[in-house]
Amino acid sequence: MSELIEQALRQRLQRHQGAGLWVVDENLARSQQHPLPSGLDLLTNRYDLLPGLAACGPVQFSDFDFSSWVHGTLDQAYYRVSKEKAVVHHVINQLSLRLKPGGRLWLLGGKQEGIKTYFTKARERLGEGGLHKLGKGDFVAELCRQGALGEPLDDQRYAELRELELGGERFVSKPGLFGWDKIDQGSAWLIASLDEVWQRLAVARPRVLDLGCGYGYLSVHCARRAVDSVTATDNNAAALAACARNLGACGVGHQVVAADAGDAVTGRFDLVICNPPFHQGFAVEGELTDRFLRAAAGHLEANGQAAFVVNRFVPLERKAAALFGEIDTFADNGRFKLVRLARPR
Ligand SMILES: C[S@@+](CC[C@H](N)C(=O)[O-])C[C@H]1O[C@@H](n2cnc3c(N)ncnc32)[C@H](O)[C@@H]1O
Repeated sequence: MSELIEQALRQRLQRHQGAGLWVVDENLARSQQHPLPSGLDLLTNRYDLLPGLAACGPVQFSDFDFSSWVHGTLDQAYYRVSKEKAVVHHVINQLSLRLKPGGRLWLLGGKQEGIKTYFTKARERLGEGGLHKLGKGDFVAELCRQGALGEPLDDQRYAELRELELGGERFVSKPGLFGWDKIDQGSAWLIASLDEVWQRLAVARPRVLDLGCGYGYLSVHCARRAVDSVTATDNNAAALAACARNLGACGVGHQVVAADAGDAVTGRFDLVICNPPFHQGFAVEGELTDRFLRAAAGHLEANGQAAFVVNRFVPLERKAAALFGEIDTFADNGRFKLVRLARPR
């Protein structure tokens, strides 16, 4: 997160008074993790942020479900805008309803992230407000709710999962989760090569773990094969909801687990399948690849295997060397590579 936004947010939160709500998605600075004034609740859709946020105050994890907060009861609300427009519009609409007349909404973000447009739209909804430049294209908007609210922003029915046809197949998905309305090209290639992965399995009906499942593209394709069960995990509440529905339609034993790089998953698996994340919020996060590799190694049966797809410039083989005895880059199409990993013998 930008230093200026982080600093402005921290100052605002420390000055908080009354009943308040801080909405947090993936963009949370680690320095933000210390106790905040009482009366301030926290809501996040990212499971990995829960431990840090719990150090700040009472926190809920959900797909931005605001139903615990009664309309017209909040004095202040804080939100550093998300990447996806439908999410931002949903959060602004919901916070507007929950502010008292005279209550304040603080929106923070960069020019590139659309903060000026969000400010204009939020002011039409809430009635009054000002936009302050923090510097370097970063802004904080202060909005004040008037008696009657204006029209809601178009959130594209954010709260609902929607049916999509992707590559001739039906999935449910929604904005705000990774590549929500498309098939990731790396994942499509991994699925096209799934026979090769299956041929090397030590068991006929594997227990499968999908690390970082998104809406469940890899999970669903595994579930259509002869499997014992599929366990899918992600840190994003919207992804978990979509994946649960998509896997539920497959008719195989499955569970969907909220976890930070698989940390809340229990048990061992015959096959771990993974297209690891490359971005965390607005920043690139290389360390995540290491954590996903450690999770794969930790959850594999002794004779199990993991199949990863990554951009070919990711040094997965080097990162995996300390964790796996067998590392086999079995395909490379110039853009992605498929890497099969097995534990030390
Ligand atoms: C490259 S996407 C792959 C999604 C899906 N498997 C597919 O093939 O379409 C990586 C996924 O990892 C998830 N992710 C990112 N950080 C995570 C974390 N710390 N713990 C668990 N999942 C995470 C993202 O939400 C995203 O769904």
